Amino acid sequence: MARVNESQTLYNSALQLLQAGDHEAALALFAQAIPEEGDFVEAHLAWAEAVMPGPDYLGALKFIHNFLQPQNYVEIGVEFGTTLKLVSPRTRVLGIDPVPQVESDFAENVSVYQQTSDDFFASRDLSSLLGGPFVFAFIDGLHLFEQVLRDFMNLEKYSSPDSLVVIHDCLPLDRRTASRMRTTQFWSGDVWKIVPCLKNERPDLNIATIPAYPTGLCLINGLSSESRLLEENYTAIVERYVALEYDVIKDKTDYFSLIANDCSRIKDFLLHEKKIF
Ligand SMILES: C[S@@+](CC[C@H](N)C(=O)[O-])C[C@H]1O[C@@H](n2cnc3c(N)ncnc32)[C@H](O)[C@@H]1O
Repeated sequence: MARVNESQTLYNSALQLLQAGDHEAALALFAQAIPEEGDFVEAHLAWAEAVMPGPDYLGALKFIHNFLQPQNYVEIGVEFGTTLKLVSPRTRVLGIDPVPQVESDFAENVSVYQQTSDDFFASRDLSSLLGGPFVFAFIDGLHLFEQVLRDFMNLEKYSSPDSLVVIHDCLPLDRRTASRMRTTQFWSGDVWKIVPCLKNERPDLNIATIPAYPTGLCLINGLSSESRLLEENYTAIVERYVALEYDVIKDKTDYFSLIANDCSRIKDFLLHEKKIF
């Protein structure tokens, strides 16, 4: 009980400090408010909001949809359909989730496949379903590094040089919420490891991360449907990156290739940052 009261007091003080404009001190108190082995989701959420001002991930995704007006959109991890519903009725939408919590026919332009992403890619041909390469894909399924890596590898086979992949949960808040084992309600798992992995193993890709609340979005373009580098080295890559400790992150801006969370910067990425060799 004493620890609950202490956490609440620290959290209230952090909110007051934020209001008073003492951002750094507020962040430190949010971190202290979370009990070492307990949970305090309000503190995690308020802390994340203080660290990541600007449009949240839904706002950033909506901007990307409006800007690209993609002919098609693929989403791995549908859940309640919150992100699926950001899509224009003119976009052909394909969702994949073993336990979607939406009606499979909730909109005419949307098809939801009730299976894991691995099963989907093992049994179906995405380009036949879409009538060509995907334009925009969002990965937000199982929050483990090796799954995200496989989702990316599977999608890339169906890409064109103009395709965009966005991965949710790439910017971790703290060690505990960024670990493989879930012990807190607010949890991004070790999805973050996909950023150093792709930066190191696929320097040909274009990568930037938007610090969009609550856990960031990584944008990737410059894809190559012919590349088999990740697949050929899959076992060694998984071993190397699963073993990464949270402490390797020193400077988030550099480590995650952060760009400003504003529409003009996102637009620049989408328009101009195709690497030329
Ligand atoms: C965080 S939710 C997705 C939220 C949704 N994109 C949004 O923001 O509105 C994650 C979803 O991934 C699904 N999921 C878990 N494992 C999966 C897998 N192997 N393949 C595809 N989806 C998976 C879960 O069932 C869950 O509905």
